[in-house]
Order: sequence, then C-alpha cells, then structure tokens
Amino acid sequence: MTAEILDGKTLAADIRAELAKKIATMPGENMPVLAVVLVGENEASKIYVRNKKKAAAEIGIGCEVVELSDTIGEKALLEIISELNMNHHVNGIIVQLPLPKHINTLNVLSAISPEKDVDGFNPYNAGLLACKEPKAIVSATPKGVLKLLQKTGVDLQGKHAVVVGRSNIVGRPAAMLLLNNDCTVSIAHSKTKNLKELVLQADILVVACGCPKLIKKDWIKDGAIVIDVGINRVDGKLYGDVDFEEVVEKASYITPVPGGVGPMTVAMLLENTYEAALRQQSETKHSKTGCSCENCHC
Ligand code: GUN
Repeated sequence: MTAEILDGKTLAADIRAELAKKIATMPGENMPVLAVVLVGENEASKIYVRNKKKAAAEIGIGCEVVELSDTIGEKALLEIISELNMNHHVNGIIVQLPLPKHINTLNVLSAISPEKDVDGFNPYNAGLLACKEPKAIVSATPKGVLKLLQKTGVDLQGKHAVVVGRSNIVGRPAAMLLLNNDCTVSIAHSKTKNLKELVLQADILVVACGCPKLIKKDWIKDGAIVIDVGINRVDGKLYGDVDFEEVVEKASYITPVPGGVGPMTVAMLLENTYEAALRQQSETKHSKTGCSCENCHC
C-alpha cells in the first residue's frame, strides 16, 4: 500500500482564502486584529512571528507585533498583556513561546483573557477543551491535525488514536480533541514502555515528540493514518518525527514535512482570531441592545 498524501499546504490555503472572503465583507472597524507578543531574540520564534504576520495581512487580519527585550521582567510583561486585554481593537493575543527562563510561562498564559486567547494556551481554555465545551478556543496545531483527519473522510468514532508526545501545546490538547471526537486515545511519551508495540496498535497516529524519523515502517499497522507534527532541522534540512519514505509504504494517509501540519497551524490561528472577533462583536452588540438570547443576530 502507498499512502495518500495529506496536503496541508493546499488545505491551509483553501481555509485562508475562505477566511479572506468572509473578512472582506466585515465593516472596516470590525476587521479582526491579532496582537503577537515576542520576547527576546530566539531566531526560530522571529521567523514564526514573521510568517504569522504575513499570513494575517494577506487575509485582512491586522497584526500588531509587540517586540520586547529578553530583559523584561514578568511583572512588566503581565502589565502589557493586561493592556492588550483591555484594548477593544485587539481581538486575539498570543505570546510566542518559548519565553526566557526567568519568566513563568504559566503565569503569562493565564493572564491572557480567555476570549482573546487564540492560541488556546490559557489553562481555562485547555480546561474547557477537556470538558468538551464547544466554547473552548482550541489551540491551532491540534485543530489543524483534526482538520487533516476530517479531510480523509474516515469515520473517527471508535478508532484507536495513539498520540506520541504530551506537550501542553500539541500532545495533550490533540489527545483531548481526539477523545472529544469519539476516538479511543492512548498518550505515549518519553517514559512509555514498549512504544513500538503501542504505536503498532494505532489506527490513527499523531506524532509530536521532536525526535527526527523516530517512527519506522515496522511500527505501523497496515492502513493507519499518520499525522506527523514534528519539525526537526538536521544539517539544515527539515525532518518530521516519522520516517516518511518508509512509512508512506504502509499507511493509508500520511502528512509530509514540510507541507503537512505546519501550514495548518497558521491557518487555524487565523481562524481562531476571526472567530474570536465575531464572538466579541456579537457580545458587544448584545450588551448594547440588552438582548439576552444566545448566538442570535439581533
Ligand atoms: N511556539 C511553538 N509553537 C507555538 C505556537 O503554536 N504558539 C506560540 N505562541 N508559540 C509557539
């Protein structure tokens, strides 16, 4: 069997084009605005932020990058977030990670207003996702993973999904999202015993562990769907966590690296920002009209 390639680049471009159409119909004062907080000089973070800003501008989302020195203290950073929370022109706020070591990441992410937390990293949103609450803002990468899975048309119900990796950014929320979509979910990590045996049981495999080419062909159940979230740079070349050349011969669907999950992450961040802006505008309207109905267009 040779797997069908799940082309995240094309799917992400289609989603961005749809968003652009919707945003073009919004009155100018309602155009969504995303604030990106970038602390320090991490070169990879700078590239990610530049890409997000460019992608936002292309579809009509305003993007304000707040660049801060890595000498900033936690208190000063929390004050900046508080200002962004109160700024009615800003609909979405993200803080690019990682933060410098002297800053407590949890404190910072918890300070972002949940309604503007378009990365879905605030523990409040992570908790809503864990409770299967529809109003949870779901972090971009797991949301992109789910969209790619849905693109296959395969019914997810009852499938055994194995997630390799337990980070707050990808592994944990991806596992919750798969659980909320009726998969039977196993989460594997660096201390998991017999990893290969567990992975061999996966109908759906999501790998986000940062280990280049860890997953080999003889780890894969015939016809499994393989989603590779890894982006590892080795000698200037990008590799996923899956040995693509081998695994493509055994899976039914597989994402490439690059061109799989990566482009979906940016598209989902933009979708979250658009949806947050709509929700905020609808709430403002309700509070002005005194309407108490839910989700209406009064
Ligand atoms: N660092 C690595 N991935 C991400 C992401 O998706 N969002 C933010 N804010 N920081 C990251």
